[in-house]
Amino acid sequence: MTTIAIMDEIPISSIPAVNVASVPQRSPLRYPGGKTWLIPHVRHWLKNAEPPTTTLVEPFAGGATVTLTAVMEGFVARAIMAELDRDVAAFWHTALQNTEELIKQVEHFRPTRFGVTMLASRHPRTLLEHGFRTLVMNRTRRGGILAPGAALARDGENGKGVASRWYPETLVNRLVAISEFRQQISFCETDGLLLLETLLPNMGKETAVFADPPYTAGGKRAGSRLYAHNALDHGRLFQMLADSNVNFLMTYDCAPEILSLVRQHGFEAVQVVMKNTHHRRVPEVVITRQPLFTEAE
Ligand SMILES: C[S@@+](CC[C@H](N)C(=O)[O-])C[C@H]1O[C@@H](n2cnc3c(N)ncnc32)[C@H](O)[C@@H]1O
Repeated sequence: MTTIAIMDEIPISSIPAVNVASVPQRSPLRYPGGKTWLIPHVRHWLKNAEPPTTTLVEPFAGGATVTLTAVMEGFVARAIMAELDRDVAAFWHTALQNTEELIKQVEHFRPTRFGVTMLASRHPRTLLEHGFRTLVMNRTRRGGILAPGAALARDGENGKGVASRWYPETLVNRLVAISEFRQQISFCETDGLLLLETLLPNMGKETAVFADPPYTAGGKRAGSRLYAHNALDHGRLFQMLADSNVNFLMTYDCAPEILSLVRQHGFEAVQVVMKNTHHRRVPEVVITRQPLFTEAE
């Protein structure tokens, strides 16, 4: 079945994708495949959770927009997130444990092409250096891509080149906000599937799992170019969630393999049509255990 044929079968969500500018941006990372557009769905999901959610688990954190929103907007008392990428993990360790030092580095750094290239070529000696390097690379490479081979931004916004997405004041504000909530957020540098395997047997409906896994098959997201870690056993993820009692929400590119997993487990899927950076319409699917985003619910 083609992607077009699948799209005809999946109902359109009753909540439209929002313009990202209308939602508070909370992550310091510009993340390829970031989920700001999904935030209204996440708010609806957590607001209507019964029993209310106490813990959010985000096994494929990336920029962790959903974790940050859920904690900062008071939807959950605590969150546990995981990420396998060493660079991204170094950023989260530093942002959560050594925020003040990271803020100082952000305030003092002036991104030039030479400075950024030097930073990229040096092996970081400390976790702080590593976390800071990740932030700089993320904000100066084209599209925020950290995977090997990603190029530096050329002209960028207003012809400012590598510095075009380096907004020290904004980054500091976001890091300060994170530091205010850091007691509520736990970060693990691990495989998200392993984390779920460990946690799920002991968790019930008051736990919410938000899963935005890397996806490579046929999707526009081109996961293999965007993320260093992009191979995942999606069947295993679906099976673990099906066997558990937790409340979950997953997002995926619209693809035949995914629809067949949705059907196999009797899950619910809606499609959210959004514009990507090239203003083409790219559908994503939002998958839950119960219907949540259809008018008839
Ligand atoms: C689609 S992105 C998540 C984007 C995120 N939702 C956001 O708002 O920025 C998927 C992330 O999962 C990470 N990843 C890939 N395989 C993983 C694994 N087995 N365990 C944990 N993280 C993994 C990738 O490095 C990438 O950061």
